[in-house]
Amino acid sequence: MAMEDRRYLIRTFGCQMNEHDSERIGGVLMADGMTPTDDPGDARVIVLNTCAIRENADNKLYGNLGHLKPLKDRRPDLRIVVAGCLAQKDQGEIQRKAPWVDVVVGTHALPHLLDLLNRAETDGPQMDVQEYTDLFPSALPAARGDGVRAWVSIATGCDNACTFCIVPFVRGAQRSRAMGDILAEVQGLAAGGVVEVTLLGQNVNTYGRDVTVLDSSRRPLFADLLRMVNQVDGIERIRFTSPHPHDFTPDVIEAMATSEKVCEHIHFPLQSGSDRVLKAMQRSYRRERYLSWLDRIREAIPAIAVSTDIIVGFPGETEEDFADTLDAVERARFDSAYTFQYSPRPGTRAATMPDQVPKEVVQERFDRLVALQTEITAERNRRQVGERLEVLVEGDGKREGSTQSRTRTNRIVHLREQLPAGSFATVEITEAAAHHLLGRVVEAPQPAAV
Ligand code: 5AD
Ligand code: SF4
Repeated sequence: MAMEDRRYLIRTFGCQMNEHDSERIGGVLMADGMTPTDDPGDARVIVLNTCAIRENADNKLYGNLGHLKPLKDRRPDLRIVVAGCLAQKDQGEIQRKAPWVDVVVGTHALPHLLDLLNRAETDGPQMDVQEYTDLFPSALPAARGDGVRAWVSIATGCDNACTFCIVPFVRGAQRSRAMGDILAEVQGLAAGGVVEVTLLGQNVNTYGRDVTVLDSSRRPLFADLLRMVNQVDGIERIRFTSPHPHDFTPDVIEAMATSEKVCEHIHFPLQSGSDRVLKAMQRSYRRERYLSWLDRIREAIPAIAVSTDIIVGFPGETEEDFADTLDAVERARFDSAYTFQYSPRPGTRAATMPDQVPKEVVQERFDRLVALQTEITAERNRRQVGERLEVLVEGDGKREGSTQSRTRTNRIVHLREQLPAGSFATVEITEAAAHHLLGRVVEAPQPAAV
């Protein structure tokens, strides 16, 4: 590619894993001398980092590609890259439906992005969706969006086979990163001023299960990793996402409770409150077991906030099954929930199951679930009023002179006072809204890193 004035733009869809992959894509392009831009008209390379988890994700991709077509017609030197889970899953279809795409790069092939872009200059459209296992994307440079908080990948892929889920098809089998590499990355981040890390994996609590141990030592466990990261100087907060209720073990609760930097928040995906549906989903826990785990977690860590994922309208879900979900939600008292309407993903087992639930029925159930959870979230937020909590300042708020901060329990707190990003403060919660809290500073902020 010509060297002069090359800018890139990345649009990211989907989960934190994808956000983090985008940081790696940005890192690779920056290492090649490019700089970021927000303006598509100014970009030499536009990357769409896609998600395949639900149907609207594909619609978004083709909508975006449609908008880029006239730009590409006007500026043939523009390079359009499709990366991420849809690139992995629908390579051929993308090239057929949008032949103006220059590079399709799968989830495993990111280390080859620059080669692909270079080849596209001379040889036309390129595609690489092979499953390379020799390179971890974390070995690539990263252009991180934030100097205070960072994502750290601990494992890629997933060995489960939840029948609704496309992830194992597009991200492959679980591959855990070596504990030493993870710690070295966290130490490097801390040295650069990062105070909060979020450990990322599809199923964090099976971390290490795929590691081959040559000597007599045992495999590393997620609890070991939490304890080790807890010892890194400069890191003040540790988060992780997501554990699978099936593999949740007492040693993880113990490590969470005794590692003071591990925040009081857990994302614990329920998916359904009906045992029949859980079985059909191939989620191996059952509702009572899930609820008893929640009790144990709350007993060990009383301040903990719990968020969850729930799918409404899985094939065969009856009104009675749905009533079980409502009941489980009522009992679990989640602090927040991500609620999804079931979306058949071609290639998954559930997509061909009989008794797909009609859209109107799904919508109606979904509305009832959202109404219930909204009430519970509001109630949980109201309980925070009057509390004195530690917050980490994330940056300026939407209103002039205001600040956005976050509690250890992952609640957003808006403050009137202006404080520097990365600093900690003690605040008193003065008001609760549906999705955030308002607070006032009661203790002057301390510099984040000493
Ligand atoms: N339909 C609806 N929701 C889904 N999820 C995963 N696959 C599907 C699907 N086919 C949800 C699950 C998962 C979250 C990331 O997305 O709740 O935990
Ligand atoms: Fe998908 Fe289940 Fe793996 Fe989560 S655990 S990524 S829902 S297959």
